[in-house]
Amino acid sequence: MRISYMAGNWKMNNTRSEALSLVKELLDNGSFKNKILVAPSFTALDAVAKVVEGTDLILGAQNMSTDESGAHTGEISPLMLKDLGVEVVILGHSERRAIYGETDIIVNTKIHLALKHKLDVIFCIGETLEERESGIAEKIVTDQVVEGLKEISENELSAITIAYEPVWAIGTGKTATPEDADDIHKIIRRKIEDLYSKDAADKIIIQYGGSVKPSNVKELMAKPNIDGALVGGAALKAETFIPIMEYNK
Ligand code: PGA
Repeated sequence: MRISYMAGNWKMNNTRSEALSLVKELLDNGSFKNKILVAPSFTALDAVAKVVEGTDLILGAQNMSTDESGAHTGEISPLMLKDLGVEVVILGHSERRAIYGETDIIVNTKIHLALKHKLDVIFCIGETLEERESGIAEKIVTDQVVEGLKEISENELSAITIAYEPVWAIGTGKTATPEDADDIHKIIRRKIEDLYSKDAADKIIIQYGGSVKPSNVKELMAKPNIDGALVGGAALKAETFIPIMEYNK
């Protein structure tokens, strides 16, 4: 049995004080039976870390440098994240890929570096609308899995969660149907079996992302291959994120 893992990616939203009030609301009013993570912006991580310390709410970062230190103006090292108490880093988000030119090679480099520093990873993959309409969604996501996990051992894989986020469903209000999402999750799981083992495929947590909200979370989570959600917009308010955290309450 895989656990349910619900993660909120706040993207470039919330000042420190807004981040603190949101996280306090989640802690005061939410329950943490499922695995729950929030990923604030870099500037709010320190403040949020102090509040979540010793609670069941896991702290994540939204990105990380390919390098540990050095001449990388504007970048954040895994050592800096660890220093703040960050436990998980989201890597390969489609916005990073599309807007900031992150390739599979860059994502793979970051995954290796995160694991070296004992950061867990939420590894994002997903096809664009154009790719889906031309019938290559399956190839795109399996290629992203193969390239992103290059030279990652089965042992290391246990620190990785995959987030399947069809790009056309992110922030658009359009959700993949639970059936379509589950089909791709099944394909990803089969690829993990090919690359590693049946045991690895059975264990890996695969989140769905793209316009997850209180009204659709239950039907998505009812699918056998969907183990959690990576949530953007609906994670910005306690009133919409708590029902997602507690979808099975
Ligand atoms: P969304 O974002 O829930 O606003 O669609 C999801 C994501 O980008 O992780």
